Amino acid sequence: MILPLLCLACGFAAPLQDNAPPAPAAAELYEDRPGADPNGIDRYYMGRQIARVMGHQGANWLERRTRQQEEDLNTLIRLLKLEPGMTVADIGAGSGVIAQRMAPKVDNGEAPGGVVKAVDIQPEMIARLRGRMKQRGIDNVEPVLSDPTDPKLEPGSVDVAVMVDVYHEFDDPHAMTAALVKALKPGGRLVWVEYRAEDPRVPIKAIHKMSEAQVKKEASRPEFGLEYVDTADALPRQHVITFRKPAADEAEDAAE
Ligand SMILES: C[S@@+](CC[C@H](N)C(=O)[O-])C[C@H]1O[C@@H](n2cnc3c(N)ncnc32)[C@H](O)[C@@H]1O
Repeated sequence: MILPLLCLACGFAAPLQDNAPPAPAAAELYEDRPGADPNGIDRYYMGRQIARVMGHQGANWLERRTRQQEEDLNTLIRLLKLEPGMTVADIGAGSGVIAQRMAPKVDNGEAPGGVVKAVDIQPEMIARLRGRMKQRGIDNVEPVLSDPTDPKLEPGSVDVAVMVDVYHEFDDPHAMTAALVKALKPGGRLVWVEYRAEDPRVPIKAIHKMSEAQVKKEASRPEFGLEYVDTADALPRQHVITFRKPAADEAEDAAE
């Protein structure tokens, strides 16, 4: 049985997962009021003010030389446990710094066909990402120009969807999470990489950080049907929080 999920932006009912309870009405999900932080928009979701989208003018910051050391990108990629042959989605890929590092992990000659879908809503970011991959001869990163509520991924096609420093700036995190759950294969993983709000030493504006508890609260909404896997805190600044979509038979067992 397919149950409906109300998409806030598009205003129609869309299917999510079998056995998942229906989503609450759109008006219950969001609170539209003046934001306390000028770096955010005038909308709150589950008690959290949503951040403004980082413009493409910020691409140089994403590509800064010191980033490897500050964020330990090698460890981040290792924590994602990518395997040859996987289809991975880099959601909010920006100019492709993360996608570039994921690409050789899913296609290293052992299993053909591993691909990184690099999804972003800004055409300027997508153009810059294309240039980066071309310059480096990387041919298994597929740029996807998406919409704020639709990552434009095939249902049931993705092994791992990764969101590096982006979830907190989704205009409509409920619609995006629902769409990503739909895009995952049964057993597929959805990974939040967010600056740690609990740690005042992390030198990032508060609105661009998230606590582990807040991520878990938002990811654990019953209509998503996601299962918490773990939280890795091996990075200098970010949490890596992993949920998974249960396989079909697991979801049936849970409903019995
Ligand atoms: C702070 S940047 C992070 C880029 C990249 N993940 C990295 O770490 O280098 C956030 C990116 O997410 C994109 N973005 C924001 N909302 C989005 C959405 N709903 N769907 C896809 N991309 C989104 C922005 O356009 C921007 O390029």
